[in-house]
Amino acid sequence: MNFQKKILVTGGAGFIGSHVVRRLVNKYPNYLILNADKLTYAGNLENLIDVDYKENYEFIQLDITNERSVNELFEAHQFDGVIHLAAESHVDRSISNPGEFVMTNVVGTLNLLNSCRAQWNGNFNNKVFYHISTDEVYGSLGDTGLFYETTAYDPRSPYSASKASSDHLVRAYFHTYGMPIKISNCSNNYGANQFPEKLLPLMINNINENKPLPVYGKGENIRDWLWVEDHAIAIDLIFHEGVLGETYNIGGHNEWKNIDLIHLLCDIMDRKLNQAIGTASSLITYVTDRAGHDMRYAIDASKIYNELGWKPSVTFEKGLEITVDWYLNNKEWLSRVTSGAYQSYYKKQYKSE
Ligand code: NAD
Ligand code: TYD
Repeated sequence: MNFQKKILVTGGAGFIGSHVVRRLVNKYPNYLILNADKLTYAGNLENLIDVDYKENYEFIQLDITNERSVNELFEAHQFDGVIHLAAESHVDRSISNPGEFVMTNVVGTLNLLNSCRAQWNGNFNNKVFYHISTDEVYGSLGDTGLFYETTAYDPRSPYSASKASSDHLVRAYFHTYGMPIKISNCSNNYGANQFPEKLLPLMINNINENKPLPVYGKGENIRDWLWVEDHAIAIDLIFHEGVLGETYNIGGHNEWKNIDLIHLLCDIMDRKLNQAIGTASSLITYVTDRAGHDMRYAIDASKIYNELGWKPSVTFEKGLEITVDWYLNNKEWLSRVTSGAYQSYYKKQYKSE
């Protein structure tokens, strides 16, 4: 089949990547979507089972830290666009293993930039290299204030430092070589298919298993939560309509103190599981705080709203309800991803319990 565009999505088997791939494959039957993913512990092809048979979808197992493999991929395919999501993404893992984050997030991004630059060879017409990043590059806020696109970078974890470094490289390729880049920095995502090392799926899984709910420190840290499908919509929009060289912040104007969010989740879970209100929250256990734990993240998303017309499509109440239903209806998915290596990760990370 003759496709109008060939798009490389990296990290498409992960949490956000799988929602992006599904959206693009279904919405653009005239694009070929090639998903390149190493399939680390966080990558799961089961996330894409509903689209993987489609003619406009292909998967290739690829480690972006391997320069030769990345070059070979670009020799085999001419891409019109790259949407780069592949990354090591969990702060706690970055604290125990920073080197892996530098390799994937920095060196991996560099390899993609270099291959892309060589392939496009100065002919950047209708080409886009779109780098997906995080609000964590801006550091940690006090009680007030928001992250703007112009906020100075101040990363404080090995994860956010590696993402900041990759953002800088992507921008440097725009200024130095004229590469057609775009960047977006998004707040915390929640939704289906998130690996249960992150707050919400970990708490849902533990409530299901009647295990303690480990709250770091006093539970007072604040995150700004966005439904993953709204992030995927924003990525589609920025890829097609965002201005080259620009950065867009994406967020839900939806700040929650961890402990309040956990209580809300516990009440929803009690209701869904037909148990007395208070059952799930009785599992809450305060544990040693994360080292260098960022206090507060909050995004100003007015640029993407004013310039591209994007805003979240669902309320938090609705998004959370859909999310909890998904995990309750997909207990086999949860038990498959939490078998094996997850058990040893969990023991090591939450050893005080
Ligand atoms: P994830 O950990 O669920 O998925 C990452 C994917 O990348 C996995 O499929 C994994 O197999 C793949 N991958 C890892 N190392 C690789 C390598 N060396 N080569 C090829 N593939 C590799 O992460 P996510 O939450 O879906 O995040 C995706 C992107 O969005 C990341 O760049 C992350 O920094 C960014 N982001 C995430 C959030 C969030 O709340 N989860 C918020 C803002 C930005
Ligand atoms: P997380 O989902 O790891 O995202 P990030 O650190 O990138 O924001 O954590 C969200 C918040 O929840 C963060 O403040 C740390 C806290 N947290 C806990 O209190 N307990 C946990 O077991 C986890 C995984 C996170």
